[in-house]
Amino acid sequence: MNKPVILIGGGGHAKVVADCILSCGGCVAGVLDDRLPPGHETLPGIPVLGSIAEYEKYAGDCSFIIAIGSCEVRRRLAGELQVSWRTAIHPTAAVSRFAEIGEGCYIGPHAAVNACAVIGAHSIINTGAVVEHDNIIGAYSHISPGAILGGSVTIGEGTQICMGACVRNNIMICGGCVIGAGAVAVKDIDISGTYAGVPAKLLKQIPENNT
Ligand SMILES: CC(C)(COP(=O)(O)OP(=O)(O)OC[C@H]1O[C@@H](n2cnc3c(N)ncnc32)[C@H](O)[C@@H]1OP(=O)(O)O)[C@@H](O)C(=O)NCCC(=O)NCCS
Repeated sequence: MNKPVILIGGGGHAKVVADCILSCGGCVAGVLDDRLPPGHETLPGIPVLGSIAEYEKYAGDCSFIIAIGSCEVRRRLAGELQVSWRTAIHPTAAVSRFAEIGEGCYIGPHAAVNACAVIGAHSIINTGAVVEHDNIIGAYSHISPGAILGGSVTIGEGTQICMGACVRNNIMICGGCVIGAGAVAVKDIDISGTYAGVPAKLLKQIPENNT
């Protein structure tokens, strides 16, 4: 039987993750969050139980999911917390039986993950995003609402493809990138940074020592 779920983070993204778990018939035990006071309700009936440092109290009885949109924060917390991770897939998402979904991922309403796609751990495939066949999505990535990745796209770890952006089929985008809302990536990107526009161009590079 599925254990009750603890959400790490109680902000906006936690609302959709909680809703997803409930829609699958799961149980959300509560939220751990360093910024919200205990008792605050992320959704009605889903209270903040304490700070993230208190996770060990729940580690035996619950599974966990990091419900925070920032790729960098998900990467850090996944390394720090020794827990059993829960994957949340909304009942309206279309996920191929031939796709591989890593632990701790969230796949939102009406998202599509097609055959032979591989989604790395703790990634978000958000509302209505399309991840076509043979994509390889690195861990801690975020494919935002309405983004479309053509077939055989490879995305490095911790990259965010923002709302409504498109990535042409067979393109490779390195880790640590942000592809801005509405952008269209038509060439491989091998320098970490923020890209925007049609076709997508570098807005700002991530400094090399920014790990
Ligand atoms: C790409 C993005 C991350 C850049 O954010 P930022 O670093 O704060 O950039 P700024 O807003 O300071 O904008 C810098 C410049 O780039 C331009 N710009 C920013 N985003 C752009 C976009 N998506 N397309 C085209 N131009 C863009 C701005 O107009 C600005 O131009 P200017 O200097 O001529 O005024 C952001 O604009 C974006 O697209 N966010 C979407 C986030 C998202 O999808 N979240 C999912 C939530 S579920």
